[in-house]
Amino acid sequence: MAKLMGQKVLLGITGGIAAYKTPELVRQLISEGAQVQVVLSRQAVQFVAPLALQGVLGAPVFLADDEGPSGMRHIELAKWADRILIAPATANRLAMMAHGRAEDLLGNCLLATKAQIIVCPAMNQQMYQAASTQVNCETLRRRGIHLWGPAWGEQACGDVGPGRMMNPEQIVQRLIGNQRLAGHHVVLTAGPTREPIDPVRFISNRSSGKMGYALAEAFRDAGAKVTLISGPVKLTSPPMLNVIRVETAQQMLEAVLEQVAQADIFVGVAAVADYAPAQLATEKIKKSADTMTLNLKRNPDILASVASHPHRPLCIGFAAETHNGLAFARDKLTRKKLDMIALNEVHQPDIGFDSDKNALTLITETQTKILTAKSKQAIAEEMVDFIIEKVISKQRAVEPAL
Ligand code: CTP
Repeated sequence: MAKLMGQKVLLGITGGIAAYKTPELVRQLISEGAQVQVVLSRQAVQFVAPLALQGVLGAPVFLADDEGPSGMRHIELAKWADRILIAPATANRLAMMAHGRAEDLLGNCLLATKAQIIVCPAMNQQMYQAASTQVNCETLRRRGIHLWGPAWGEQACGDVGPGRMMNPEQIVQRLIGNQRLAGHHVVLTAGPTREPIDPVRFISNRSSGKMGYALAEAFRDAGAKVTLISGPVKLTSPPMLNVIRVETAQQMLEAVLEQVAQADIFVGVAAVADYAPAQLATEKIKKSADTMTLNLKRNPDILASVASHPHRPLCIGFAAETHNGLAFARDKLTRKKLDMIALNEVHQPDIGFDSDKNALTLITETQTKILTAKSKQAIAEEMVDFIIEKVISKQRAVEPAL
């Protein structure tokens, strides 16, 4: 089945030995239905013959200085592509990209594009592990560029270690997986809310936002358009997703309701304060008596409001519990009319609030899946896989045929 039908992939090939695998990569991309164009760097032609690529592509490939009759080929290709895939990517190309160097057609395309950029590094293991290469990889990751691989194994030079290009089949399979949520809009809340008492004080909680941010990135990496509505956190906005920053539960609710009619999936990860001060003091409250009472009022339940919206998206909640976790989570699933709830047993050591690790139990009406403790990024990826495979595909299966 052609799982990349309609996808426009610009393949950039740079000068590494693994370039000899690229005619096979082009063949597999085409057989999955992708439209492909190819750009080679100056050194790439030493490792793979442009004529071999043209043979499988059935169209011309473009060389490093090939700007075409208009002199604007970099703009045309940059606008045409849905994804730019660079395979293999040499250490030198990673360094050029980290510094935004536009020395050839591929370098120009990379600067002129809004497309998703995926890089498959391939080089000697020591070159890959060199501090400067690692810094360059980190710089690219921070800009939202995807680095796939390198794989670990025996290298052309005889060394063994990380540096082999992922093989063409793995790259194509990952491209397919990477657009499972294309066309879906996911809205998430993350972090704590802050409920002001007076101009200098507020009520809040220990949520760091890390789980919500990791989940937003995992949805983005599965091809979704993502809007992240975030309470005050110390995290920087992840690239390639829309981040709306709010402070209070009321502001979070308003931001969510603005998005929800266009959303396919809503995930409430935020630790929303259940209560806010009934009155906001306009001046700093001065101490007087030995005790003081703060009057609180219930905040709106954002998740429950979305779940009862007339154009309701798929609704997923979190339940942070210290005891009777399964029972409380199941109760929230039913009471808030959710499609799924993720139980976070925050009393366990080293997971949950403010930690880099988490463990979750995913609960739907009919299924339970335990995700054992690992990084919040890895947990987020597993959670997105479960949502796609078990929740969305099940929903599609019961939708009446038109
Ligand atoms: N939530 C929300 N708006 C609120 C409170 C919670 O959207 N005002 C969402 C959270 O983002 C989370 C889920 O609801 O997805 C948590 O459910 P909830 O029953 O509110 O959890 P707790 O606040 O922990 O409730 P309780 O104190 O009863 O355990």
